[in-house]
Amino acid sequence: MAKTPNDPRKEIDTLLDERRTFVPPKEFSDVANVSDPEIYDRAGADPEAFWESFAHELEWSEPWSKVLEWNPPNAKWFVGGKINASVNCVDRHVRTARRNKAALIWEGEPGDRRTLTYFDLYREVNAFGGVLKSLGVRRGDRVALYMPLVPELAIAMLACARIGAVHSVVFGGFSAESLRDRINDAEACVLVTADGGYRRGQVVPLKQMADDALRETPSINHVVVVRRQQHDPLPVTMQPDRDYWYHELMMKAPSACEPEEMDSEDLLYILYTSGTTGKPKGIVHTTGGYLVGTYATTKWVFDLKEDDVYWCTADIGWVTGHSYLVYGPLANGATAVMYEGAPDWPAQDRLWEIVERYGVTIFYTAPTAIRAFMRWGTKWPAKRDLSSLRLLGSVGEPINPEAWMWYYEHIGRQLCPVVDTWWQTETGAILITPLPGLTTLKPGSASHPFPGITAEIRTADGQVVTEGGGLLAITKPWPSMLRGIYGDPDRFIQQYWSQWSDGMYFTGDGAKLDADGYFWLLGRVDDVLNVAGHRIGTMEVESALVDHSAVAEAAVVGRTHEIKGQAIAAFVTIREGVSSSDELIENLKSHVVKKIGAIAKPDLILFASDLPKTRSGKIMRRLLRDIADGKTLGDTTTLADPSVVARLQEDYADEQG
Ligand code: WT7
Repeated sequence: MAKTPNDPRKEIDTLLDERRTFVPPKEFSDVANVSDPEIYDRAGADPEAFWESFAHELEWSEPWSKVLEWNPPNAKWFVGGKINASVNCVDRHVRTARRNKAALIWEGEPGDRRTLTYFDLYREVNAFGGVLKSLGVRRGDRVALYMPLVPELAIAMLACARIGAVHSVVFGGFSAESLRDRINDAEACVLVTADGGYRRGQVVPLKQMADDALRETPSINHVVVVRRQQHDPLPVTMQPDRDYWYHELMMKAPSACEPEEMDSEDLLYILYTSGTTGKPKGIVHTTGGYLVGTYATTKWVFDLKEDDVYWCTADIGWVTGHSYLVYGPLANGATAVMYEGAPDWPAQDRLWEIVERYGVTIFYTAPTAIRAFMRWGTKWPAKRDLSSLRLLGSVGEPINPEAWMWYYEHIGRQLCPVVDTWWQTETGAILITPLPGLTTLKPGSASHPFPGITAEIRTADGQVVTEGGGLLAITKPWPSMLRGIYGDPDRFIQQYWSQWSDGMYFTGDGAKLDADGYFWLLGRVDDVLNVAGHRIGTMEVESALVDHSAVAEAAVVGRTHEIKGQAIAAFVTIREGVSSSDELIENLKSHVVKKIGAIAKPDLILFASDLPKTRSGKIMRRLLRDIADGKTLGDTTTLADPSVVARLQEDYADEQG
């Protein structure tokens, strides 16, 4: 076994200096789900046949007649096929030896624990499917889910899928207003929420926030409330004939609920994500292709085996939780760990304690978390037995090589491959990633497109870059791709399919290709920030700021942050007669939290008498970014009034003390 060096810093520097690459350990590749490099050529030669082979591993009530119908930008996968996602995630396994296998191992932040076998899950999903029907939910209806990370959230998603309803999960960290807007955009008829959820020992009052939202959501007929707190219930107001306790409805629920036979292209869910305007986009995913994509990538990227204990730390409120905590693992019949709370509660070894307790074998988290672990120090993982781990994953933002190496050494004991997986809410499943039994790893590179996926680096005007940097394009349709933006077909085309004249999918990301053909993801090239792995639109934060009565104008940019990758910096011009003060800064921050949620809270607010603009009146974000990062400025010759920048820089210097 490889020894952990005494001076990890030195070791890491040496490894990085050598530009060391990491060949999969022989013990790993010998038994890996994929170890034949030929697969890339085979899949590339006939991607439809490649995806079809995975579709055959799922259960369809009627076969498809055609794998793909592609009328750019509209794709139909497994045309004519009939399938139900809950059958594939639950029923299918209940008929096998997996019947009594743990499907979900859940741990609440206060330490409460629950394990649901596949048969448990089957009963719960059937019962809640029946409950939703009894509340009038029909095929095609939208159901909003605003929940903590509890098993009932996965149950509710699968119950929706079972009866053909479309779920729209809204992350529990979003504000009442964000919830309201998402409910209204989707015209959801039922909301499932909880009395609260735990975060760092505090209770997030979800039902109270939902009540705020529900004042202006005419489409909602009923609300189901999960009782999360056993001993110390938050005051919860239940509105008669509208609000019901989950556990009371479940007691009366029928034990069986026949799955609806869904078309492959019927909607499975909507998930809102930030874009370049003030309004989040409802990304639409359909059933057959999405399941095939998440099933295939979970099996191959995570090298999933029957006895693995798989843990993806993401919240189900984000796409990572949808694809790699619910649909991908359960479609594979895996055992998935689910943890409700914060990684440093009650202490900074909470995650490692969980790895030790359940013998986690596959661990998938975000670079921002890894950088926090680094900051907390090696003593925390060293306290726990991590020897069960055999594979590590990373997702959500570029992983810096230092964080990669730390993860590899201190969590993976230099024995576990690290898969850096690139994808998006829109792509539904992982698109660029190593295959752990096959790929020689380079710390910081997501390596290669998954078999069957074709990616290119292009210039803004469409030239293909074979080595060097540019914009990342996906050139062929893939099964789990988004099928649209809910209710906004024009934005769908404009956002993703209009960058180049040949209508390739534009990711919004910059990337470069090295001489060995490895992809290095460089982050967003649009006005979207990635704060701690979460996507936030600068325009959304700007709208929230100008909504405040003191604000005349606002410009929001990302600034480099050691742990979060990016943090939010806001430049604010206040109205005549309002005076700037620390109190106003706090008020503005709370206003953003109220409008969007705590994840969008600016790190830094700077008052500016004017914002730097070009002669044509466009705010010069590049300049603001440089100021926020404390860098020396580039060219300001196109600026209408250069003295504005000088003043801003002085303000910034004062602010930093
Ligand atoms: C954006 C998508 C789907 C994962 C969770 C975030 C960035 C994601 C990586 C990676 C570099 C990454 C991109 C992408 N991103 N994974 N491995 N390396 N960047 O989903 O909120 O839809 O954000 O996250 O910028 O466009 P999302």
